Amino acid sequence: MASSKSGFTTLVSKKYDPLTKWVTRAIVLLIAFTTFSWLDTIKDRWYVFDPVHLHELQLSALATSPNNTAGMISHIITNLTATYPSTRLSINSNTSEWVFNNAGGAMGAMYIIHASITEYLIIFGTPLGTEGHSGLHPADDYFHILVGEQWAFQPGALEMERYRPGDVHLMRRGVAKQYKMHEGCWAMEYARGWIPFMMPFGLADTFTSTLDIPTLYRTIRITAREMGKNLLLGKI
Ligand SMILES: *[C@@H]1O[C@H](CO)[C@@H](O)[C@H](O)[C@H]1NC(C)=O
Ligand SMILES: *[C@@H]1O[C@H](CO)[C@@H](O)[C@H](O)[C@H]1NC(C)=O
Ligand SMILES: *[C@@H]1O[C@H](CO)[C@@H](O)[C@H](O)[C@H]1NC(C)=O
Repeated sequence: MASSKSGFTTLVSKKYDPLTKWVTRAIVLLIAFTTFSWLDTIKDRWYVFDPVHLHELQLSALATSPNNTAGMISHIITNLTATYPSTRLSINSNTSEWVFNNAGGAMGAMYIIHASITEYLIIFGTPLGTEGHSGLHPADDYFHILVGEQWAFQPGALEMERYRPGDVHLMRRGVAKQYKMHEGCWAMEYARGWIPFMMPFGLADTFTSTLDIPTLYRTIRITAREMGKNLLLGKI
């Protein structure tokens, strides 16, 4: 046994001497890095949603359904399903499909309207209020306030930023803040960038804190279903 094992080791080390091994690794890494850098420069061509349209939609939802969160959400879905043909983009129109979301110490519920590799659109919030770390994301994040207020700050600021219904809180890729949805807040959140890389942050609290496996299962199932439907339509 022992002799055949060492024979195998000798064979392997002869076949792949350290130099070849490291050169191969360096080449693979370089190819991966180059490919990803290139994909990063062209990712814009896969975006379907337009921040200007979404801001107008937020304002029209507020105008048509004042003081009625469910009415705002249904206004948003009606508009989106009328704006984007189902052959181009998959939109989840089931407004009953809510899941808890725990991330960065904050807790709320979300309804996933759209999820693909480069974009997501959700309704997120809580009627109770919550507070936490925004996360550090490889995506630009547009937080459209529908109800309540969101407060935020970054180290160095001594005063808080304050976002009210009709406001958009834009957090550029790589920016992190402490935020608080004071006394309850609902928002339409649009993210564009590399969505799969945002997911570890969105799910980590399940493993370190909540252990809410049914929520984890539902979140992954809905996200995978929506991303899959979009991929089948050729929406990256
Ligand atoms: C959707 O909302 C936008 C922005 O408010 C508006 O310009 C557009 O006409 C709406 N589309 C439909 C089909 O309601
Ligand atoms: C919305 O609710 C607030 C507080 O309950 C009230 O002051 C305001 O008049 C309401 N606005 C409308 C348009 O119903
Ligand atoms: C909508 O989602 C709810 C909650 O997950 C589910 O019970 C219901 O069957 C769904 N409706 C449709 C039409 O898929």
